[in-house]
Amino acid sequence: MPSTRTLIQGGTVVTAVDTYAADVAIIDDKIAAIFGPGAAPPGPWDVTIDATGKYILPGGIDAHTHMDMPFGGTTASDDFETGTRAAAYGGTTTIVDFAIQTKGDPLRKGLDLWHNKAEGKGAIDYAFHMIMTDVNDQTIPEMGQVVSEGVTSFKMFMAYPGVLFVDDGQIFRGMQRAAELGALICMHAENGIPIDILVQQALAKGHTAPIYHGLTRPQIAEAEGTHRAICLAEMAGAPVYMVHLSAERALKQVVEARDRGLPTFAETCPQYLFLSQDDMARPDFEGAKYVCTPPLRPAHMQEDLWRGLRTHDLQVVSTDHCPFCQKGQKELGKDNFAKIPNGMPGVETRLYLLWDGGVRKGRISMNRFVEITATAPAKIFGLYPKKGTIAVGADADLLVWDGEKRHLLSENTLHMRVDYSPYEGREVVGAPTHVLSRGKVVVENGQYVGKKGDGRFVKRGTFNLM
Ligand code: URP
Ligand code: ZN
Ligand code: ZN
Ligand code: ZN
Repeated sequence: MPSTRTLIQGGTVVTAVDTYAADVAIIDDKIAAIFGPGAAPPGPWDVTIDATGKYILPGGIDAHTHMDMPFGGTTASDDFETGTRAAAYGGTTTIVDFAIQTKGDPLRKGLDLWHNKAEGKGAIDYAFHMIMTDVNDQTIPEMGQVVSEGVTSFKMFMAYPGVLFVDDGQIFRGMQRAAELGALICMHAENGIPIDILVQQALAKGHTAPIYHGLTRPQIAEAEGTHRAICLAEMAGAPVYMVHLSAERALKQVVEARDRGLPTFAETCPQYLFLSQDDMARPDFEGAKYVCTPPLRPAHMQEDLWRGLRTHDLQVVSTDHCPFCQKGQKELGKDNFAKIPNGMPGVETRLYLLWDGGVRKGRISMNRFVEITATAPAKIFGLYPKKGTIAVGADADLLVWDGEKRHLLSENTLHMRVDYSPYEGREVVGAPTHVLSRGKVVVENGQYVGKKGDGRFVKRGTFNLM
């Protein structure tokens, strides 16, 4: 088959470290060459894309999504088809989703189920983490097989007793095995045992509104879980990655560990940078739209997370995309906040929010934007240098990014399969004009032009950062 030669012309390449004028040449699915201005050969090129006045960025990597996930008595409303297409619209070209081991079943069954959910559906490439709900003599030996298939990180939960929760002994054994295998442990570090007691006490007092979801999950439950996860990982000699870190007290634990030289990592999510507890307190059950775990915190705490992103104490921003419709899904908790399926849509809006609220507001540089949305997750999760940067030989997952494009975030303009946007009516600046997934344009000027199933499963390498 003849190869396809594509040239992205006249843009400004932005990586985690460099910003320079260049043309990017692609042959088939890979970046083949990067030319200084005027240095690219005249062609013929099969496809040329004009990037004059625009940036050329690596496609976003979202290391935390939950497509088609059964949770809270229902199922996350985006599946791999709708969710990865929405991701592409927003400039994300790889997701790492969480395959779930159902209690009592082998890991194999959970991983196969997730392959079945995703196969033939993706608009962009995808990889998996494995959630372990039993860590025991049956599942520990299975971890090696899972790693050999390119699923090189395992998530465990200190929260959700009776559902996804595993105890400290299980966490510790999982970490020891991960250390042997070169796998990374992702922790939902929030102490679910006292939280469940606070929840029962609140309900007994008749406190049923969505805001009580937040008030029964105090920061200290997250700080304690984070501290404990770091201690267990240190004892096991394993690297650990805190998912969805929401506030300063947990961040302090991460800072302390990193300053001691431990391989401790953490992500936060746009909802903790842009939304607050006040949203959860909205009247007439509207607060349910903002119920996620850990909960949204008081607004003044957002700046702590921005500071963490600037100082590299936080390395990644991913979305924890886990959408539930207000109608029929969030409504399950109309009379009891504990029955509201927790999670929020976000896979499409991450880059918009971080460019507008981060780069344009002067909180982070363009290079740091690229680092936290693409390069750092690629490095931490074993996708680098195939993905996460602009370099010769890398997958041509690229964005032509218009840093001045003004648009409205709304349920009506976004593409996630959910009946609301947590950012309804917010105007943002910055959007991709072209999104390329392995060299093929999948979104062009706001139109999806890709093909369902072109996204492929990506095997990830083992952990190699210290
Ligand atoms: O509320 C959330 N975060 N839902 C998704 C499950 C999880 O804990 O990541
Ligand atoms: Zn979680
Ligand atoms: Zn530090
Ligand atoms: Zn999650």
